[in-house]
Amino acid sequence: MTKKSLEHHSPLNFYNVEDNCLVMGEQKFTDILSQHKDVPAYIYDSSVIKQKIDSLREILPKSMHIHYAIKANPMPEVVGYIQGLVEGLDVASGLELKVALASGTNPKDISFAGPGKSIDELTLAIKSGITINLESETELDRATKIGEQLGITPRVALRINPNFELKTSGMKMSGGPKQFGVDTEIANDIIKKIVSYNLDFIGLHIFSGSQNLKTKALIEAQTKTFALAAALAEQSATEFSKLNIGGSFGIPYFPGEKPLSLEPIGENLHLLLDQYADRFGNTSIITELGRFIVGESGVYICKIIDKKISRGSTFLILNGGLHHHLAASGNFGQVIRKNYPVTVANKIGLETERASAVGPLCTPLDILAQDMILPKADIDDYVAVFNSGAYGYTSSPLNFLSHPHPIEVFV
Ligand SMILES: Cc1ncc(COP(=O)(O)O)c(C=O)c1O
Repeated sequence: MTKKSLEHHSPLNFYNVEDNCLVMGEQKFTDILSQHKDVPAYIYDSSVIKQKIDSLREILPKSMHIHYAIKANPMPEVVGYIQGLVEGLDVASGLELKVALASGTNPKDISFAGPGKSIDELTLAIKSGITINLESETELDRATKIGEQLGITPRVALRINPNFELKTSGMKMSGGPKQFGVDTEIANDIIKKIVSYNLDFIGLHIFSGSQNLKTKALIEAQTKTFALAAALAEQSATEFSKLNIGGSFGIPYFPGEKPLSLEPIGENLHLLLDQYADRFGNTSIITELGRFIVGESGVYICKIIDKKISRGSTFLILNGGLHHHLAASGNFGQVIRKNYPVTVANKIGLETERASAVGPLCTPLDILAQDMILPKADIDDYVAVFNSGAYGYTSSPLNFLSHPHPIEVFV
């Protein structure tokens, strides 16, 4: 078996290649899909997930907890596997909460973040004893009332919209006016209100962004997060048993992007834990990550149905596309469309040609690879999109044009 490189940064570092064929979970992908030859598929490789979590353990202070944000990939097998490797799960809906509970995770180690939780979701959260990350004063009042009606003390944390932003993030979720959490300016008053109610208040959730590849920006945000949490603890004279400092660790998707340099982040966290030992020595410090844990573990694979030349350009027409993988099509938050890492999964390392790989939808947006150097492919070959383990299947408009849905396989 050999490991081959792609055109730019190489997701193939995570995988082996045998007979020019992508290997996942020690099997050629064609064997994995032998029962489903014509069906587009997402395949998730547990060994890559393990590798990513191990890389975090190496740099994080031993006392720090890792929570997996299952929104990145809520496939029950994936969640079940990861929950055995981390200290907790974060969910974003009632259905995700059911997946998290079914995974066997202790409810005390499950948190529920996200604005606009419904009464049913709050009720389920309170009945199951998980932590609700309160996103507003209304939600605080609702949770309190539901708790009284049920005769159960709700377990809550307060999500803060900090007065700083996480610079250079793919998605900024803090600083300025935001729908997430309560503004720093009113946080102290809300904490006082929480403490005066019949609630089990466990601490703060400060989540400032997603998909960040800049070590310096992450270090700065983490440092400000500790300072903010310490100031709020001081002002409100409240002890926190848990402090969730968010995550935001990104992965490289596009040419020129490099993997996050983890060591300096770990060093800074060691320093912060020392610096705030008096304040947070008995507080569990949590980092909440999705994409970093699962993103590189997943590959989306579909089949070439047709191949044609249009005015000198080669098009590979696939049986999958934007409807299965919105993010790889460039329509999930990208300002300028860029190619995910793509290859022809059964011809890796063979002769190449310039081609575009497009889906079957009647829209020019349905592109998975635009004008890329790919192994020279024929009809019935397989196109693979790497880095598809996070925000792939679940963030795609699967019913658009009513094509069959892809299958998901965990190996
Ligand atoms: C509250 C919360 N937690 C965790 C995540 C996961 O982020 P990522 O997958 O980038 O780690 C998000 C992403 O939007 C989020 O909003």
